Amino acid sequence: MLSKKIEKALNLQLKIEAESSQFYLAMASWAETEGFNGTAEFLYSHSDEERMHMMKLLRYINERGGKAVITALPQPQKSFKGIKEIFEGLLNHEIFVTNEINKVVSICLEEKDFTTHNFMQWYVAEQIEEEALARTIMDKINLIGNEKSGMYMFDRDIASMKAIQTANDIQ
Ligand code: FEO
Repeated sequence: MLSKKIEKALNLQLKIEAESSQFYLAMASWAETEGFNGTAEFLYSHSDEERMHMMKLLRYINERGGKAVITALPQPQKSFKGIKEIFEGLLNHEIFVTNEINKVVSICLEEKDFTTHNFMQWYVAEQIEEEALARTIMDKINLIGNEKSGMYMFDRDIASMKAIQTANDIQ
């Protein structure tokens, strides 16, 4: 059975994952309408992953005798200056998510809830990968700068990064 404090912390994390999914969905839709199709595919897939992160929390809360709460979400940003702003936003958001996950882990230790602590380790590991991926992408963007042909190649290559990511998820 979850303590009220853990239930509250997990529900907050559930909301953050739902917000992440909406945030990346808005980015994906913008990229698609601007002709960045590879970037859009990457972000649609990333948005789906965040929904999966949310569902995993929802099912865990309910399975452990708590009640998952589905809340309203703020409207995410609708338009962006360009690809760089999108991926800067993504990296900063993932850093924020990592901090929030660390807070949940620390509450688990305070409450001596080792089952939830164990459950949260999946998220800890996932954040290492997500932050690393976002940093790799930002490095590429910084190398390209404002060059149009570079951006074209970036958009083509990021679609294959999505394919690699999906292959890793299946393994
Ligand atoms: Fe679910 Fe990207 O953190």
